[in-house]
Amino acid sequence: MIMTVRRVESAGDLKTFLRLPWKIYSNDRNWVPPLLWDFSRKLDKSHNPYFQHAEAEYFLAFRGDEAVGRITAQKDKNYEAHWKEKVGHFGFFECADDPAAAQALLEAGCAWLKGKGCIKAQGPFNPNVNDECGLLIAGFDTPPMFLMTHNPPYYQKLLEGQGFAKAMDLLAYRLDAVAEAPPDVAKYAETIRHKEGITVRQWDLGRFEREMELFREVYNSAWERNWGMVKLTDAELKAHTVELRTLVWPELAFFAEIEGKVMGASLSLPNYNEVIIKLNGRIFPLGALRIGLARLRKSLKSCRVFALGVKQEYRRSGVGAVFYYDTLMAAKRLGLQWGEMSWILENNVAMNKAIQHMGGRVYKTYRIFEKAL
Ligand SMILES: CC(C)(COP(=O)(O)OP(=O)(O)OC[C@H]1O[C@@H](n2cnc3c(N)ncnc32)[C@H](O)[C@@H]1OP(=O)(O)O)[C@@H](O)C(=O)NCCC(=O)NCCS
Repeated sequence: MIMTVRRVESAGDLKTFLRLPWKIYSNDRNWVPPLLWDFSRKLDKSHNPYFQHAEAEYFLAFRGDEAVGRITAQKDKNYEAHWKEKVGHFGFFECADDPAAAQALLEAGCAWLKGKGCIKAQGPFNPNVNDECGLLIAGFDTPPMFLMTHNPPYYQKLLEGQGFAKAMDLLAYRLDAVAEAPPDVAKYAETIRHKEGITVRQWDLGRFEREMELFREVYNSAWERNWGMVKLTDAELKAHTVELRTLVWPELAFFAEIEGKVMGASLSLPNYNEVIIKLNGRIFPLGALRIGLARLRKSLKSCRVFALGVKQEYRRSGVGAVFYYDTLMAAKRLGLQWGEMSWILENNVAMNKAIQHMGGRVYKTYRIFEKAL
């Protein structure tokens, strides 16, 4: 049957776009169905603040009348301004094991990006680096952690078949919370904690807006030179504040401060995917999970070290070690059994070294692909 690709234009097209994964993953017990409310808001250009600095087009592929694939193409002004290069992104890629469908989708996305003046396409970004990104290329045997991606093993072959190659690998480490911290880390963390002027404290959920502003200050400085980074805007900060307000557990979120100035931050989140995997995409916002929060506190068994960074001017101060140690101890106290540290750029020497020293091992690898246009 004939293969066609068309832009998502109607509400019906959007529904097909949103619902396609249910077909692709019907036999994959590790797939975590996205919550449809959050997923549709992410794609909504009038709602997601990403679209205040980016434009995008969404595409669907059909074999005959049957939807067999989807993709988005995005061009982000803030990415181009930060990195001074005309790189466009693709994302939300889902496809049957059908090379012709992958070809049609990727060609449509790349043609759109080229028409916008991009010289390279990179992805997947859903829709940018501050959201879910990367294609899973190793470690398919367990479900993804909260806010991480998952896909069938054949996607790598589909992308490579269209001339896409590795741009960067993103690593996910697994660390058992029942393990003890290496004695030198415990000792070093205590030394740093008691250094004059340094305070390591939990986030104060009573002043969450202020804590998120401090977090952005750390993020925009600490991650500035990390590959692919794009700074968070005011509107994005506000949106994340609304999303995260009910999801952060103070025991897993820390700031290090010196003389009233923030040095770094560490934010780990409980692995809500342990619950979301059972909801089959139900239509309610992620924040509504708070309804069962008290119960979740007892039932969740894992967490994700989501963001841990030290501002450039405070590097080598050793506070990173306090974050690693305090997070492990908090996880133990909360009765969590294990944690994922993700994602870590493969070229992030300091972080990879520190996690390996703590006993972490890479158990999933995600890849950002690229192709010259
Ligand atoms: C990753 C990151 C937090 C590391 O910060 P850092 O200041 O370089 O690292 P630390 O605070 O752990 O300090 C490192 C130094 O502390 C000392 N130190 C750390 N642990 C020690 C120990 N157990 N015993 C003795 N000294 C120790 C050492 O002097 C070490 O330097 P070395 O590795 O050259 O020997 C920082 O590079 C960063 O913010 N990166 C950007 C954000 C990011 O990529 N985060 C990861 C993804 S979430």
